[in-house]
Amino acid sequence: MKEHKIEAIVHICELAELSEEDQQLVEAAKKATEGSYAPYSKFLVGAAARLQDGTIVTGANQENAAYPSGLCAERTALFAAGAQHPDQPVVALAIAARKGRQFLARPISPCGACRQVISGVEDRYGVPIRIMLYGTEGILVSDGISPLLPLRFVDEDMR
Ligand code: THU
Repeated sequence: MKEHKIEAIVHICELAELSEEDQQLVEAAKKATEGSYAPYSKFLVGAAARLQDGTIVTGANQENAAYPSGLCAERTALFAAGAQHPDQPVVALAIAARKGRQFLARPISPCGACRQVISGVEDRYGVPIRIMLYGTEGILVSDGISPLLPLRFVDEDMR
């Protein structure tokens, strides 16, 4: 059996190291947590997607008494972007989470289902999405979903 090594490179930086537009997107994700409806987990997540033309579309997690019927912030934002601006590729996505007023020190990473949807949006437009996961102690930046979802299933696999 041959070993196949998979490498994933991400970057960790401070807010000030990001470009102005990326800083703005992170701030939009933080602000988006205000739209979270999380009476069950009390875990407030915000996401902000920047489109190619600069438009920012935000989302926040929406919970439901039937737990699996709720939706994460990332998919709320990406599906809203797709529905409202179908012709605009998503080029960047920032995510922020807090418990109460306090944003988390270490960033959270999108769940598996959200990673798959991010991958699908990349494939839809053929444009990699820069992902920024906000934490007060540092921001994790991934250029595209690939480092977060290696060996992913893509549209191409069905052809
Ligand atoms: N959640 C998100 O919105 N995004 C993530 O990346 C992780 C989890 C939400 C789902 C649920 O409302 C709450 O956080 C707890 O899992």
